[in-house]
Amino acid sequence: MKICVIGTGYVGLVGSAVFSDWGHSVIGVDNNLQKLEMIQKGEMPIYEPGLKELVSKNLQNGNLRFTSSLEEGVNNAELIFICVGTPMDIDGRADLKYVYQVSEEIAKYMKEPKIISIKSTVPVGTNRKVRDFIKSKTNVDFYSVSVPEFLREGSSIEDMNKTDRTVIGSDNQEAIEKVASLFAHLNAPIVKCDLESAELIKYASNSFLATKISFINEISQICDLSGADVSRVAQGMGLDSRVGSKFLNASIGYGGSCFPKDVQALYRTSSDLGYNFQILGSVMGANKNQKYTFIEKIKKVYGENLSGKTVAVWGLAFKNDTDDIRESVAIEVVRILRGMGAKIKAYDPAAISNAKKVLGDAGIVYTNNKEECLDTSNFLVILTEWKEFITSDINQLKKVETIFDGRNLLDVELMKKENIKYFCIGK
Ligand code: UGA
Repeated sequence: MKICVIGTGYVGLVGSAVFSDWGHSVIGVDNNLQKLEMIQKGEMPIYEPGLKELVSKNLQNGNLRFTSSLEEGVNNAELIFICVGTPMDIDGRADLKYVYQVSEEIAKYMKEPKIISIKSTVPVGTNRKVRDFIKSKTNVDFYSVSVPEFLREGSSIEDMNKTDRTVIGSDNQEAIEKVASLFAHLNAPIVKCDLESAELIKYASNSFLATKISFINEISQICDLSGADVSRVAQGMGLDSRVGSKFLNASIGYGGSCFPKDVQALYRTSSDLGYNFQILGSVMGANKNQKYTFIEKIKKVYGENLSGKTVAVWGLAFKNDTDDIRESVAIEVVRILRGMGAKIKAYDPAAISNAKKVLGDAGIVYTNNKEECLDTSNFLVILTEWKEFITSDINQLKKVETIFDGRNLLDVELMKKENIKYFCIGK
């Protein structure tokens, strides 16, 4: 199939690479020339396991190419994916200006019938509005299809290749079948539905997962107060197949470019439609609160004033296996600790250069590895769930007086046995 993917962010770049790897002829389009130059040289603008290799392979075999010309992209494809950003606007709604910008250009350049598919996360009703907008700008026939994306940063290639399901929404059955043929080889269920349901499936899924995290985080508060162990509670709950074990890891709260934005946007969409989505209000409140509970644990040991103290920080990214620090709770925690007067020694396997851009150098030293961080630090905070932080190297851990584990990565029993002062979430 001839495919054009507009936008080379997470969804667009990974999508282009994976579709081309499936044997299709893919043109990726972006108006950021610097970014395109990088990608063409095989340098990835984002850290994503396996992406560099996949892009290089498919650039070489000719299945994949990139251009800054939307006209060229559109006219060399039967299927167009819009994968541009939909950031949060100041009211908490999804800002659709990039979606409309590229839609206008597609209308301008399109010479023959196309399938135009929005992969960006857009509020319910958007596909229909964009369809009407494009219709008002061109006489060429086209079909609107909503194909929301469910990949996670850090495991996006595997997520696309081993998806749990594909969702395809459209008013046109032929267009649905054409898009479905692209995903048929995955042997995963395909949900074929109307545009609005497809749009809502995406928001409902992300909001439900965020709810699951906030729920277990609130359970962790009860565990702290009652002496129960949140990991055992999550294990016991998760074994019920109706509940499921995934996304029940208690933490300092969810972050990233998706959950905070999408929960807020669904909440706004609901109120715009005249409905007060009460649960989502609580999910956001609980998430905001969770990091302060963690900070309270530190205050109980070290007080409100941390001047004279050095804190080792493990993890700055919003989650493991990414360099992304957007809405990272780790960054917020570092800001709070620095605000309390602490000196910070921070390490992250991939996110240091991005973290530097927002945190700067004042009061922070960035280290080359996790061990270096511990030297001369008073206490350690673990903020991101990178695998390399799961350690039982007691000699290293004993370099600090206290450990505050915001991701429950260390073994409580071992910490007890080794007499290490250890605080975590809900245990
Ligand atoms: C999320 C969804 O999981 C994807 O399905 C979706 O496609 C994507 O948003 C999107 O809309 O683009 P992502 O934000 O990349 O993916 O990362 P997640 O793995 O979902 O993690 C989100 C946040 O929740 C992270 O801060 C993570 O540390 C936190 N989390 C996750 C927990 O605190 N506990 C958990 O049990 C799981």
